[in-house]
Amino acid sequence: MTAQRTKILVTGGAGYIGSHAVVELYQAGYQPIIIDNFSNSEESALAGIESILGTAVPTYRIDCADEEALRGVFAAEPNIAGVIHFAAFKAVGESVQKPLAYFQNNVGSLLTLLAMMPDFGVENLVFSSSCTVYGIPDSLPVTEATPTKPASSPYGRTKQMCEDVIHDVSAAPSNKLHTILLRYFNPIGAHESAKIGELPLGVPNNLVPFITQTAAGIREKLTIYGNDYDTPDGTNVRDYIHVVDLAKAHIVAVQRLLDRKGTETVETFNVGTGHGNSVLEVVQTFEQVSGQKLNYSIGPRRPGDVPAIYADATKAEQVLGFKTETSLADSLASSWKWQVALKK
Ligand code: UFG
Repeated sequence: MTAQRTKILVTGGAGYIGSHAVVELYQAGYQPIIIDNFSNSEESALAGIESILGTAVPTYRIDCADEEALRGVFAAEPNIAGVIHFAAFKAVGESVQKPLAYFQNNVGSLLTLLAMMPDFGVENLVFSSSCTVYGIPDSLPVTEATPTKPASSPYGRTKQMCEDVIHDVSAAPSNKLHTILLRYFNPIGAHESAKIGELPLGVPNNLVPFITQTAAGIREKLTIYGNDYDTPDGTNVRDYIHVVDLAKAHIVAVQRLLDRKGTETVETFNVGTGHGNSVLEVVQTFEQVSGQKLNYSIGPRRPGDVPAIYADATKAEQVLGFKTETSLADSLASSWKWQVALKK
């Protein structure tokens, strides 16, 4: 008889980061169970996952904020050992247009999940947070102890609120929940197989899909949002982390929770490379690895952009033993390979 794999529920498991985490979870010996409402993901991600793994991953097409439907999944899948909660809206600009939808979906789905987990004896949670919780930091790099600042968008505020909810729930005397908050920096790239990757709906908001779509001729030109920032070349600085490296951080986080190695019921980790790169550096590196000349120009600043932010990645390395492995060049090469595969 083969040993049962430990079940991990992955909400938003068909999404960009979720799909890569599902692959890494399975390859690490876990049994991922996907929940997704496909509001910002596509069925093709499931085919990609199946093709990489050689097996289909159980998938429930439900909304995580739908209490009855979620209860049905927990009931149908006994012995879930932990949850990775990716499911959320994530477009900064859209959140300004539709703030209530962001609070309802992002905070609402977390509340539904947290209220239900004890009913099924599920005590472990990895939560998708973001470096957006730091706002505009006073000093760089940011450590987990860097104070959070007012968020620049409703989206950012939902991440801060979700972190607060988890802390308050965990402080209750009856609490059994153990959580790892992972604060992601800027995920880019795609799986080396080019079978899964980012699938932006419509015009991409994020830099790298906009670059690859421009190089592929889908977009005419990239606009760089400002070159008059107080940074080495005047363009914004971010910490770009390969999505597979980011996915792997979830595996070590899950294992730490299951092993009860945490020193506190809520632990927070930055997940970044520890290096900042400017928008111009990303563009130039992309041109080098893809051999494509990119059509771009400098435009005005984008409202709400943080001038520069990158992670101090020391805590994740020392406590989780997690370190990123993929260079910016290799990450961008994987983005380009994925874009080319998408066109076929
Ligand atoms: N950029 C451009 N042109 C574009 C798109 C982006 O110049 O067409 C620039 C932005 O101004 C920024 C950088 O590229 O300097 C990265 O922009 P992204 O939109 O890719 O990423 P952000 O850093 O703005 O946002 C990311 C996540 C958010 C998260 C935020 C926290 O997408 O979910 O980090 O800082 F909230």
